[in-house]
Amino acid sequence: MSLQEVMAAESRLLVKTYERYPILFTGGEGVHLIDENGVRYLDLLSGIGVNALGYAHPAIEKAILEQSRKLIHISNLFFHEGQAALAERLTQASGMDRAFFCNSGTEAWEAALKLSRAYAVAQRANGKQLGTKFLALENSFHGRTMGSVATTHKAKYREPFTPVMPDVEFVRFNDVDDLKSKFSTGVCAILLEAVQGEGGIRPVSQEFFAAARELTRETGALLVVDEIQAGLGRTGKWFAYQHYGIQPDITAVAKPLAGGLPLGALLCTQAAAEAFQPGMHGTTFGGGPLACATAIAVIDTIEHENLLAHVTEVGGYFREQLQELAKRHDCIVDVRGIGLMLAIEISSAERAKDALDAMMRRHILINRTHETVLRFLPPFILGKADVDTTVAALDQIFTEQNAAQAHAHSGGKVG
Ligand SMILES: Cc1ncc(COP(=O)(O)O)c(C=O)c1O
Repeated sequence: MSLQEVMAAESRLLVKTYERYPILFTGGEGVHLIDENGVRYLDLLSGIGVNALGYAHPAIEKAILEQSRKLIHISNLFFHEGQAALAERLTQASGMDRAFFCNSGTEAWEAALKLSRAYAVAQRANGKQLGTKFLALENSFHGRTMGSVATTHKAKYREPFTPVMPDVEFVRFNDVDDLKSKFSTGVCAILLEAVQGEGGIRPVSQEFFAAARELTRETGALLVVDEIQAGLGRTGKWFAYQHYGIQPDITAVAKPLAGGLPLGALLCTQAAAEAFQPGMHGTTFGGGPLACATAIAVIDTIEHENLLAHVTEVGGYFREQLQELAKRHDCIVDVRGIGLMLAIEISSAERAKDALDAMMRRHILINRTHETVLRFLPPFILGKADVDTTVAALDQIFTEQNAAQAHAHSGGKVG
């Protein structure tokens, strides 16, 4: 089918939840996507932070091929080798004790919310004072299911579905006083992304993160960190919270975990894990043999190809280049992020949108969040030459925008 045929069929057949770019991708190789006409796009979005090893990576192909020949799915009624083997790797990398597997980011987050509430129930049964309230952060994004959306800050995600899960209060981002004033024994968990993703690539401050850890320690509430976008190497460490030297009680991962197959995981301490008993939570598909085998191949590859160090190096270079670019263009009002989770904030939504469209026309894929933020979530295998291509394109686009603005201000007069 051609792009036009696919667009016509989708508009007739699909529920209208997405606004897609009019591009039909049919393949990929390394850091490039290839469309129906064979045009190659430099991909700095990686399927919204999923395709960490890029496209057609031989390790992923091999894992999928070998495991699919053996066993794809058996449900959670039986044992297979993959879950324990993957849990071993993830608990080692995260400093956690136990894992629960599911199929997506929002499911991992739902599991974290349910575990937090169950933990509070168990604590109350032991005579502790611990309530049911969640404290989440302004500009947070935790997913689209009913619990996740209740802890997601932007009203547009929550309001069409009210009443959402009650007992959630939002704290001003990095405002320690606001956190302290809203915290009490009524809180069962503080929820945060170490680096907010959809919220515009905003790292939480050391002071705020430390205060959240201290307050939760005082009452026995849980500190729950969403690493769905930032985790598994994107920031140059396995987990973004490791940059802060702060260990949460629960964390959630998903996006890059299984190289593009749907897989999420909740990782937690032994104490938190004890709040779930058999039958309290579960999923048919979660942690299937195919997804687990592929995830182990992804983790092996990140280790064997030294990709954490690579992300740190190329990410650092990318950030420096963006900072240099910001010196040349006033429209870049901020450069943020860590590793290969980066963004530039643009002075207006129009300029940001125009720049995004111009990048698409140059066959470079990035995206825009929070209207004014251009976000870069490339595959971990991105090279410095790819960074140079990207920054040169942005430089040209902002130069053209400046020239167009100067032209408009001069009333279109030349000379
Ligand atoms: C920080 C964060 N949490 C949760 C989610 C939801 O993940 P999923 O779309 O896999 O449900 C996302 C997705 O963008 C995310 O970035």
